Order: sequence, then C-alpha cells, then structure tokens
Amino acid sequence: MRAAHPFAYPALKFGRRPVARVAGVGVLVRDAALLRAILMNTASFTKTGPGAPADLWTPVLGPSVLLNMEGTDHLALRRKLAPLFAPSYVDELVEESLAAPLASLSERLRAGESVDLVAEVRRYASITIGRLVGLDESVLSDDLFRRVSSITSMVRLSKPRLSPAQVVTARAVMTELGSHAERTFRAGDESTVPGRMRALGLTETEAMGAVGAFVLTGTETLVSYIPRLACLLVDSAWHGRVAADQTLVEAAIAEGLRVTTPSPVMLRSVVADATIGTVPVRPGDRVILATFAANRALGAFDPGGNAAAGLKQLWFGAGAHFCLGAPLAMAQIRLVLGTLLEFPSLQVESRKAARGVLIPSYQRVLVRA
Ligand code: HEM
Repeated sequence: MRAAHPFAYPALKFGRRPVARVAGVGVLVRDAALLRAILMNTASFTKTGPGAPADLWTPVLGPSVLLNMEGTDHLALRRKLAPLFAPSYVDELVEESLAAPLASLSERLRAGESVDLVAEVRRYASITIGRLVGLDESVLSDDLFRRVSSITSMVRLSKPRLSPAQVVTARAVMTELGSHAERTFRAGDESTVPGRMRALGLTETEAMGAVGAFVLTGTETLVSYIPRLACLLVDSAWHGRVAADQTLVEAAIAEGLRVTTPSPVMLRSVVADATIGTVPVRPGDRVILATFAANRALGAFDPGGNAAAGLKQLWFGAGAHFCLGAPLAMAQIRLVLGTLLEFPSLQVESRKAARGVLIPSYQRVLVRA
C-alpha cells in the first residue's frame, strides 16, 4: 500500500479520530459504522456532486456508467444489468471461462514451474469481463490492460478531477476499447452489458462508456486482490491450514478482503446538511471514506477469528452502489484459490510491489508448489 501511495496512506491513517476535517482534501471518515451510515444516506451524500466520482469519471466514461449516477436512472440501469451479475449466472460463466486456464495453472504448478500469479489473474479477469462486455479474448491484451491501468493511476486523492490532457489520453484508450464492443451493441445481444443497455434505450456512446467502466472496475481490483490473498495466506502459514480444512475458505477470503480492501477509499459529496459523528457537514463538502483504515482497525489477518464476519462486506461498499460485480469477483476468487489450495505447501518465491498505481497491487508474485 505504501508503494502505491507513499504519502497518502500514512496521512489517512494518522491520528485516532474517526472523523476529521483535513484542509484541502475533505472530511475524512475512518469508522465502519459511520462509513456505512453515509453509504446508506443518499439524501445527504452523493456520487455526483463536487469532488465525488462523477467529477473524475464522467469526462472519460460519459454519464451512464452507474458509478457516476444516482436516483431513478441509476436504479433502472442496475436492475437491467442485474441478471448478468447474478451469482447463478456468473458462477457458470466463470467456471466455463476459467476451466482451461486453471487446469493449465494446476498442471504447471504440479510440474514444479514458477508461475507469476499477477500475470495469471490479469488474464483470468480479462477473459471473464471480456465475456460480459462482449469483447473478444484477444482484445484485452496485457498491453491494453497496462493502458487501462495507466488511466486509474492518474487519479490522486488530492486532485478531484483529471486535467484536460489526462482526459484526452484516457478517452483515447476508452474509445479504442469501445470500438471493439460496437458490434455487440449493434447486435443487441442481451447476454452482454452493451446489449442490455441498448434494450434500455441508452445510446451506443453511453454503452461504450460502460464497457470502459466495467473493464476499469472489474480487472484491477482482482489483479490486486488474488495475489495479495495468496501472499497473506502463505506468509501467515494459513495456506496449509485452509488447504487441510476447506470449511475455512470463506473466512479466509473475507479476512483477506478486509485487510487488503482492494477498493481502499470511496468518495462522496454532501448535498444536504448532515452530521458525521460529531462533525457537521455542508453541501459541497467532499467526504473521503477510508474503508481500508476502518477495516484494518479490527486487527491482523486471522481466518480463525474472522473479524470480517461483522462487517457485512464493507469492502464491497453498501446500499445503492454496493459492488455490482461482487458475485463475479467472488466466483473468480473462489476458483483461483481452489486451484492454489491443491498445493498445501505453496511458496512465494519472490514478489515486487507495483508503484504509481491507484489500487495497491503487486507487479509480480512468483509462486511455486
Ligand atoms: C475484489 C474485487 C472488488 C472490490 C473490492 C470491489 C469494490 C467495490 C466497491 C467498494 C464499490 C462501491 C463504491 C462506492 O460506493 O463508491 C464497487 C462498485 C462497483 N463495482 Fe466493484 N469491486 C470489486 C470487483 C468488481 C468486479 C469484478 C466488477 C465487474 C464489473 C465490479 C463492478 C463494480 C461496479 C459496476 C460498481 C458500481 C456500482 C454502482 O455504482 O451501482 N467490481 N466495487
């Protein structure tokens, strides 16, 4: 986390107060109960006001990509897309998409090969999200993934908006991505996100923005999380224990999500007077929800104690914007972890943290059975 944000992380963790006004940044919240209350209170807190995600993403992705919407339009689009993200649907999609790559991972580990887990997960996440947004497997190459990541790495907490030059660069990548999905939109295939958006009467441009948004949200989080989970399990010696007792798998995944919090910070803008804890806030205030700090306050990674159980998956958000892709993420996490648990004595041979990225991640994690 420090490799990604050497100054912001220590600053966000500094001090003990659950809510604090930080000059030039906004109102910082680090308590799980307060955080949840804000996420549930859409009358006072929005994603579309000044300093909120819409300011960052609408210039790049257009206006209709869920994470920059509120109210009835947001609800209608979520409802339309919901069947594509239902657990029964994504479980099958992920199993089918990843069967061959995971069989190959298992074979390579069994043969004693060193495998870069980051590169593996990047491929898995690209394949599955590509299926949902109607992109051919070959389109989401490592090169395109790097260019997509270069967009998120432009984001800094201290800068609520991208600069005009950054918007131009980001839009070029998104346009390229969208151009590959045009066919899916025009065919109106309702087994894909663009097809469903078309059925809702949204335009091709809006649907292409959503393709970009789903690739942005649906790849980097997993490329960050799964290798971090593997490292946590191996470092803490829980890997062998979970392999021996698979009733611990869900607790291990939840604990990993709690202590890593792959989407570490959420943003909101105040639209109506409110109080957060003891701190009054006014319309226009920017609220920084430091989920990672709230989650980590519950202690170190411990699948046995499972402190995560009481957090109601706060790492996926709460309320109207609760992560739409959570079932897709969980399906991938379970399957990849399932393969790694075939090897109780898995070792992490070497690892390198990624620098200059938005979502704290490893750049490389070499594992060997
Ligand atoms: C471990 C992996 C993931 C984590 C920790 C995560 C976390 C989150 C969080 C915290 C939010 C809420 C943000 C807020 O309220 O401001 C969110 C929203 C969202 N996530 Fe995820 N996410 C993950 C994977 C995915 C995947 C695989 C997809 C697939 C497309 C996805 C798609 C979305 C979308 C579309 C939203 C916006 C929902 C809305 O605004 O209605 N996420 N995610």
